[in-house]
Amino acid sequence: MLNFTFYNPTRIHFGKGQIAHITEEIPKGTRVLMTYGGGSVHRNGVYDQVRAALGHTKLTEFGGIEANPRFETLMRATKKAREVDAEFLLAVGGGSVIDGTKFIAAACHFQGDAWDILVNKVPIKSAMPFGTVLTLPATGSEMNSGAVITRTSTQEKLPFGSRYLYPQFSILDPSTTFTLPPRQVANGIVDAFVHVLEQYLTYPVQAPVQDRFAEGLLRTLIEIGPQTLAEPHDYNARAGLMWVATMALNGLIGAGVPQDWSSHMIGHEITALHGLDHAQTLAIVLPANLQYRRSAKHTKLVQYARRVWDLEDENEEALIDGAIDHTRNFFTSLNVPTRLSDYGIGSDAIPELVARLERHGMVKLGEKRDVNPKVSRDILLLAV
Ligand code: NZQ
Ligand code: ZN
Repeated sequence: MLNFTFYNPTRIHFGKGQIAHITEEIPKGTRVLMTYGGGSVHRNGVYDQVRAALGHTKLTEFGGIEANPRFETLMRATKKAREVDAEFLLAVGGGSVIDGTKFIAAACHFQGDAWDILVNKVPIKSAMPFGTVLTLPATGSEMNSGAVITRTSTQEKLPFGSRYLYPQFSILDPSTTFTLPPRQVANGIVDAFVHVLEQYLTYPVQAPVQDRFAEGLLRTLIEIGPQTLAEPHDYNARAGLMWVATMALNGLIGAGVPQDWSSHMIGHEITALHGLDHAQTLAIVLPANLQYRRSAKHTKLVQYARRVWDLEDENEEALIDGAIDHTRNFFTSLNVPTRLSDYGIGSDAIPELVARLERHGMVKLGEKRDVNPKVSRDILLLAV
């Protein structure tokens, strides 16, 4: 096992009716800026519950944070937060609202052009405290310190993170997810699944706890995924998905093991240029990535085939073929297509995607830093 430091200070309130905990989490009289997205919170009753729990605060609202949150919008929110002298931010929504709020929290304390945080990776030294109410299980943003922000004018989508960007608390009430459209539920399952694989499918370092944890999360997603989609009001299935998605990217399974993340970085360029949902890009890139890098990932792929998909074969190459097929079929069964061409994107789009990876410094990706632009191009070619 590799050395690691593990730290996660986010308090989780999980279950029905837990939104009421906001009242005790935020002191009376605090100047709060509540952030949300395009309006789903109004349709599912979450807005009313949150407002009721914030009755003791001095509240301002900022709605309209988009899916794949935009720098331009977030700078307007930052201006608003400064105008009202906000002391605390409360994000209410999916990963985009939470990521966007992390950026606002950082930008409010940042001197200079906040775009530098993303493009020049200027480290932040502090951030405004914030909490979250999660309505879409997928990203893990509710219990981690990362975020991904898009600048529409240049079609760039860039990640950033900081130890100052863990939410102080997050409310996870699975019943807030009943109103999710099937596409977003499926996206959440795929995103969480790939988060686990980015941390698990690398090379062995004798980390049995992390491996078994990761395999448990993957098997849970395979077991509950179809039911979550078929029965939107099945509380237990939704609760399972919500907790898996949080555990998939809160630092726990990634501590002490090598991590890949190349599918994510390649996928970000596809979203930025072609507007696909984050999870759709992962469903496209991940199977092709595993196929292309199958010899470097051989041992873990065989383990994945046996322990996650229960495949049996003397021939290890056949096991790997089976594992990749099962992964692709799992995504397809959730109605998330796995080829660039399924989304109307051809091989002619690949040079620009690779050029943008280069421009963003994404030239040594993967657990062995060997996913260079040529490898990214070959992976994308396999994904057409
Ligand atoms: O905007 P509203 O009206 O709220 O609608 C949203 C949005 O249209 C809707 N929605 C959310 N909760 C709902 C609901 N609709 C009905 N009922 C509810 N309960 O769903 C749509 C998608 O929301 P979004 O927040 O964009 O989805 P998701 O949670 O999948 O977040 C995706 C973003 O997170 C980033 C992605 O890149 C992408 O920008 N990621 C963040 C990560 C992190 N911080 O650690 C890691 C991930 O790998 C990912 O990159
Ligand atoms: Zn993701």
